[in-house]
Amino acid sequence: MARSKSGEKLALLGGPQAVSIDSSEQWKRPIEEEKRLVWELLESGKLSGSGAGLPKEFEEEFADFIGCKFCLTIDHGSTGLASAFYAVGMGPGDEFITPTAGYLGTYCGALHMGARPVFCEIDPKTLLIDPEDAQKRITPRTRAIIPIHMNGRVCDMDALLDIGKRHGIAIVEDAAHCHGAQWNGKKIGSFGDIACFSLQGINPGGKPVSGGEGGIVTTNNREFYERQLIYCHLHRTGIMEELTKPLYAALDSEVLGLKWRAHPLALALAKVSLSTLDYRNERMLENMEKIFAALQEIPGLKPVQHYPKSRPAGFYGGLKVIYHPEELGGLPATKFVEAVEAEGAPVSGPSVGHLEHLRTIFTQGFDLWGEGRGPLGKDFKPYKKGDFPVTEGLKDRVLTLRAYIEPKEGFLEEYMEALRKVASNYEQLL
Ligand SMILES: Cc1ncc(COP(=O)(O)O)c(C=O)c1O
Repeated sequence: MARSKSGEKLALLGGPQAVSIDSSEQWKRPIEEEKRLVWELLESGKLSGSGAGLPKEFEEEFADFIGCKFCLTIDHGSTGLASAFYAVGMGPGDEFITPTAGYLGTYCGALHMGARPVFCEIDPKTLLIDPEDAQKRITPRTRAIIPIHMNGRVCDMDALLDIGKRHGIAIVEDAAHCHGAQWNGKKIGSFGDIACFSLQGINPGGKPVSGGEGGIVTTNNREFYERQLIYCHLHRTGIMEELTKPLYAALDSEVLGLKWRAHPLALALAKVSLSTLDYRNERMLENMEKIFAALQEIPGLKPVQHYPKSRPAGFYGGLKVIYHPEELGGLPATKFVEAVEAEGAPVSGPSVGHLEHLRTIFTQGFDLWGEGRGPLGKDFKPYKKGDFPVTEGLKDRVLTLRAYIEPKEGFLEEYMEALRKVASNYEQLL
């Protein structure tokens, strides 16, 4: 690979582009296999139901893949999280802790159950929940901590499970982006309290296992499993045989009335998606390692750190890189991004994601249930700018590079060359 020399004219200023090779993902999903499974379902007419047929087969395959005792499919990742909140006993007056660089769909289920969000900081090196900061925010009302394995990076599970155990609170993992990711050699979803995966989108850009819309919840805890069943799995085949607790077994198959099951057609697509997951994860990890190794030599850019015990997966949302303007004469990240894009390389940002505490409902409160009732009502203390200096300080410093399964031959080298070219010629932009 030719090293760019200082003095080479940037494409943004009329110079030649560093990238000449097609930057699009070359991997294609096995659409013929998808059609075959969807067609079989259409012909069989088995387009509704859960706990039997293809939905059950998929749950068994996923449970096998993860290595967990219980696995339930559901209509979305966010409803999966809501069912997990019910499973751990979330209710009015409770609090839950989740990073402010997060997602409303992660915790809205708990909010609607009457629980109040307590936001916490992320770690500036991993961009994941800071367990120490989360621990400081525990009160007698805390029911759960909700870490997010953002973009397939794995949170510090040792620290989080230890905090949960010591304080008697559940860890509800948002695993929406990280199917197949591992901690200490064990798959996420196989060893914690309860983990929730999304199946939204379609590969390669969607969730690592995807079927349009859908979700999965895994746990080894029988009580959590049964509580999910009674909460939102009305009329699931075999449900009455599964309910062993006298309180739950006394219900009928309409349990508590909600029916949030996944559509079998979505699960047919997810089944095919699962069959290619290991290959995609392997390739993305290999390509990430190449990219992160190249970044070591580029000033101004530091790859996000992964905990040594973790093996990330999926990379939904791309590869995160921390931008250090002080190494590039103070060049603003927006200008850096503009110049890299002009070189023909895919990069976006700067953004640390949505800052949840700055949503209007949390800066002003919100009368969720009317008459001042609900978790954001009369006695809610609003959040404000400046409440989370670490996370807010990262707002202009996180860039996103694209993750690849099968890039075109030679593309990754040109991709890195584009970054190197802009970083070594930053003075042209000042
Ligand atoms: C971090 C995170 N959590 C939860 C969800 C919810 O998943 P779903 O869209 O399947 O409801 C998403 C979806 O994008 C997500 O990105």
